[in-house]
Amino acid sequence: MDEHNRPIHTFQVCHVMEPNQNNWLRTNWIPRQAAQKIYVELRFTLRDCNSIPWVSGTCKETFNLLYFETDEPHGATAHFHTNDYAKIDTIAADESFTQTDLGDRVLRLNTEVREVGPIARKGFYLAFQDVGACIALVSVRVYYKKCPSTLRNLAAFPDTVPRVDSSSLVEVRGACVENAEERDTPRLYCGADGDWLVPLGRCVCSIGYEEIFITCSVCGPGFYKAFAGNIKCSKCPPHSSSHTEGSAQCHCEKNYYRASKDPPTTACTRPPSSPRNLVFNINETALFLEWTPPSDTGGRKDVSYNVFCFRCGADGQACEACNSNVRFVPKPTGLTSTSVVVQDFVAHVNYTFQIEALNGVSGLGRSERQLANITVSTEQAGPSLVGVVRKDWASQTSIALSWQETEQPHAAILDYEIKYYEKEQEQLSYSSTRTKSPSVIVTGLKPSTVYAFHVRARTLAGYSSYSPKFEFTTGDESKSFSKNASFQYLLVLVIVTATVGGFSLLIILTLFLLITVPFPGLKTYIDPDTYEDPSQAVHEFAKEIDPSRIRIERVIGAGEFGEVCSGRLRIPGKKEIPVAIKTLKGGYTERQRRDFLREASIMGQFDNPNIIRLEGVVTKSRPVMIVVEYMENGSLDSFLRKHDGHFTVIQLVGMLRGIASGMMYLSDIGYVHRDLAARNILVDDNLVCKVSDFGLSRVLEDDPEAAYTTTGGKIPIRWTAPEAIAYRKFSSASDAWSYGIVMWEVMSYGERPYWEMSNQDVILSIEEGYRLPAPMGCPVALHQLMLLCWQKERSRRPQFNDVVSFLDKLIRNPSSLLTLVEDVNSFPESPEDMPDYPLFISIGDWLDSIKMSQYKNNFIAAGYTTLDSISTMTIDDVRRIGVSLIGHQRRIVSSIQALRLQFLHVQQSGFHV
Ligand code: ADE
Repeated sequence: MDEHNRPIHTFQVCHVMEPNQNNWLRTNWIPRQAAQKIYVELRFTLRDCNSIPWVSGTCKETFNLLYFETDEPHGATAHFHTNDYAKIDTIAADESFTQTDLGDRVLRLNTEVREVGPIARKGFYLAFQDVGACIALVSVRVYYKKCPSTLRNLAAFPDTVPRVDSSSLVEVRGACVENAEERDTPRLYCGADGDWLVPLGRCVCSIGYEEIFITCSVCGPGFYKAFAGNIKCSKCPPHSSSHTEGSAQCHCEKNYYRASKDPPTTACTRPPSSPRNLVFNINETALFLEWTPPSDTGGRKDVSYNVFCFRCGADGQACEACNSNVRFVPKPTGLTSTSVVVQDFVAHVNYTFQIEALNGVSGLGRSERQLANITVSTEQAGPSLVGVVRKDWASQTSIALSWQETEQPHAAILDYEIKYYEKEQEQLSYSSTRTKSPSVIVTGLKPSTVYAFHVRARTLAGYSSYSPKFEFTTGDESKSFSKNASFQYLLVLVIVTATVGGFSLLIILTLFLLITVPFPGLKTYIDPDTYEDPSQAVHEFAKEIDPSRIRIERVIGAGEFGEVCSGRLRIPGKKEIPVAIKTLKGGYTERQRRDFLREASIMGQFDNPNIIRLEGVVTKSRPVMIVVEYMENGSLDSFLRKHDGHFTVIQLVGMLRGIASGMMYLSDIGYVHRDLAARNILVDDNLVCKVSDFGLSRVLEDDPEAAYTTTGGKIPIRWTAPEAIAYRKFSSASDAWSYGIVMWEVMSYGERPYWEMSNQDVILSIEEGYRLPAPMGCPVALHQLMLLCWQKERSRRPQFNDVVSFLDKLIRNPSSLLTLVEDVNSFPESPEDMPDYPLFISIGDWLDSIKMSQYKNNFIAAGYTTLDSISTMTIDDVRRIGVSLIGHQRRIVSSIQALRLQFLHVQQSGFHV
């Protein structure tokens, strides 16, 4: 009977009185199936020996559980060899038959579970060995564990048997349910106890299906689902419908369309109606056409306009398309604004203009063109602003021209454009150049050739019409000027004039000529801010790059406008090049976009090996990007700090030469940098230095070094010339001052100019005539060049071409670099000669100010307790007191030098570049 008094069948044995019992009970053969590890659950009762009198020597309270693996069952008659069996465990009872007070015996059922494995054969027997106990075996349950098949994340996972080794999990890949597809491979892990763990990845319902419970159900008619994913079927967007189940998209109603780039989720749209209220306004130089957008934009926001021009007869009939001389600003097609300026039209003519409204679905289907027409007579149109164009002189390959402005009460002339072409080649192609003054030297011409020139002026209202054609011939080869003919010509002119008119006239003329005649062959820089429409400047100076040609690889920094990344640019027909990509982060204002692209409009005008090269811009898609050549070693200041002491003086001078050469180019074309500093120089893997960071006319918003001055400007004080700080007089001469500071940064391997002094103290010290001392190991010649760059009187500072030729001389003659400043400084002889030290009052203060506080004890222990006492310390002394890092030794010694000289007072005489 069991606990509930129900009869049960048991196997029993109870030979407790007889010694040496060895009784066996064996199961049938049990097939292993998929099991690797099996579990045996035994339920049994076992009587305790104390409750049976007279059995103390023979009664046992345990039995043994054993097993034997085989690939097939032995026949019923086969002999039973107990030796074949391996022991699983000895089983003892937790409970046993106990005697109650009333003498009834109560059955206590024991349950014990044992694991066996790994099992390798196809099946096994279990056996029970009794050695003299009183046992009733009630049940034997044999089982194995598995993770049961399941559906998770729209994937089905099969029954899986865990590993025998309970510490490792079985990875199982799921199969997507019907009409679902993998997003990330769905996976589950089967644990030793048959539990599924760690769900990873998932499936999502395919296009046209949505998830309902754990299946993917088809979208009904009138609904669609365009993308596979965890989204529901959506109702068809306006002007579209779906008639079948499982639609990926809804089809447009008649006369409605989707553009090729419209996602299938958008409503269907139609072409716009025609523009409205087309009016014109004509002034002296330009014709303005203006209109209002169509009443029906077709449901789209991408309405644009094309302008067509026809020149008509007197009666407004017999019209023909205008020739290519008529220009449209900003452009004739793809206009997004509702106005256009027409220029270079012929006066006293009737024109008809048609404005066509288009949107992204114009041209799809058979819709009619939507046009607005207007006829304009150019009776009132203004004349050219340019008078007679004269030839001043000509060489074989150049012609110098000048002209007079005609009287212009209203319009200040911003600059002139000169269009020219070989007379013989008229209409085939032409070149153009610009100048701010009413004269130009056109170079690169063929000898003995007739050229035609037209000049026009640009005012705030746009361009005037072109002057009539003027024809001039270049000189012939036999009596030609030399390559530098213009200068020889000027020289001759100057000498002759001087002889005739006296010395003062010579000086005035020389100055005048040098100032007003641009160098032949050198273009001038055009400030993008002079463009009314800044995006016109970008497109004039920067190539638009298709973003699919750019591969962004990693982020290398953060700029004011967004991240700076490195990557690769594929240029058709060339091999991929590494590039740096400046991005404009989302959510920008129109002004931020303009300021961001300003740099590209500036950089795009430069072409010099020491100026960072612009590859192009991406403005027609997001994110907006500026793509420039990649410079492997990043910015110069951090590069030098990283490689402190690693370069030879010649290598450092080579870097300085490169920077000076880039600056020479910039100053020659009339660009003033305003933020020249080592942090704004980039270095490539050949140590070539290139000037970068342009476009900061809203000065220096981007430069963390720039601080606000009392006059409200934001200026990097330590790098900036006094006149630029005081009254914003920025010029190539103020760039030369900054160049001197860059020299100091380079020679000190990226030390901070004026160390930890405050900006205010820097300004005061400079005002008092003090200048940075030479960095450790700096050749005298270089420090003297720095001092020249830091002359208060800006006209006395060297020009960049002087700097380049001076550095070239040093490089050609390296012995000139051997004399170091340390070797020539004469130290103060007596305490009276020592300057005061207003900046620091103790050794401790001084060490704090140069961030070397950790060495206070070294100085004090070595007996250096006053500033006077350190003033003669050499690098060996510093090393001796226990400063072992070379960078720290350098920092301390150069600061001692600074203290000692208290910013060497500039002696500017006696040194000439
Ligand atoms: N960081 C900013 N501009 C870079 C460039 N052109 N190359 C490398 N690093 C840069």
